[in-house]
Amino acid sequence: MASNKNQISERKKDHIDLCLSQDVNYNKTNGFEKYDFEHNAITEINFNSIDLSTTFFNRNINYPFLISCMTGGTEKADNINAQLAAAAEELNIPVGVGSQREFLESNSKNKSYTAVKSFAPNVPRLSNIGAAQVAVLKSADPIIKIIDQIEAAALVIHVNPLQELIQDEGQPSFKGLLKNIEMICGKIEFPVIVKEVGTGISKIAASKLLDAGIRGIDVAGSGGTSWSAVEMLRNNCSDTYFWNWGLPTSYCLRTVSELKEQREFLLVSSGGVNTADEIAKSIALGADIAASAKMLLRVLNEKGLDGVIELIQSLFEDVKKIMYLTGCSSVKELNKLKLIKKEDLY
Ligand SMILES: Cc1cc2nc3c(=O)[nH]c(=O)nc-3n(C[C@H](O)[C@H](O)[C@H](O)COP(=O)(O)O)c2cc1C
Repeated sequence: MASNKNQISERKKDHIDLCLSQDVNYNKTNGFEKYDFEHNAITEINFNSIDLSTTFFNRNINYPFLISCMTGGTEKADNINAQLAAAAEELNIPVGVGSQREFLESNSKNKSYTAVKSFAPNVPRLSNIGAAQVAVLKSADPIIKIIDQIEAAALVIHVNPLQELIQDEGQPSFKGLLKNIEMICGKIEFPVIVKEVGTGISKIAASKLLDAGIRGIDVAGSGGTSWSAVEMLRNNCSDTYFWNWGLPTSYCLRTVSELKEQREFLLVSSGGVNTADEIAKSIALGADIAASAKMLLRVLNEKGLDGVIELIQSLFEDVKKIMYLTGCSSVKELNKLKLIKKEDLY
């Protein structure tokens, strides 16, 4: 168990180092540049009254934005998670932790997870575990344990088949996953969100997950961080075919949001969502909330806690400008806005 613990901790350190030092982005876009906003020349919105607040599973939050699940279980993550949590608390937005597998398997008292509880006591915190671990569960007890560890408001299960496939020590076998997701949804009182890690969730997959009882989907589409790229750099793989594998974020949103006609669920947009333009287009394409990962890690590394807070605030000042120019006074109205496909403009 000790070597497994060290292996997980080393891997997490590699992930942080590579995401900070290397170009691990997709060589294709998340597709938002294919859309434009319809300018509203007769907007009657008062810019200063635009309301960016929304709800996250009945909790009021200040912006439709969350700090995506990233890290934990390595010393290097202690400070990262404490600062991301402090940013979330200051901004009153949700924050996720990285996979809690290390805690589950070794019972370690690693501070990186509990730091999130200490530094973000008043905002929704998200627990995180991988599909490979969920697929082999015999009961929901381990899930309750990780939720308790950070007193989470929701559980995030990450599905990452491509990453497991490329990772040298990966476990590309999720047999039993859907059945166990259904079991967890039936046993715990907290909402379950399923997210990808950058390869996207299709409408068919989303539909099956909703049938199993989940209440949120984070499409985590392609166009941002490529996790096959990260794993390829870790194992010096020269065949880069899978570097760009995946469904673009905007495509996932457009198709998965069609399911909202029949059912209610929280739709999260992530996967290279790094600008005000991408956040606002995400919401117009059906997302309830946007999320970012690597960009925030990099800003934290370069500019510290204040840099992260200022970045998110300035992104939303620009989202407000977009809302003003498109005649939207609330997130709900932005959610109903129709985007123009650029091919129809010229
Ligand atoms: C350093 C780092 C570690 C990550 N670890 C996890 C993790 O443990 N669990 C998870 O669900 N996603 C993890 N992710 C994936 C992100 O949550 C996100 O889905 C992905 O990076 C795509 O978003 P981005 O383009 O904004 O980076 C991690 C991301 C980063 C940058």
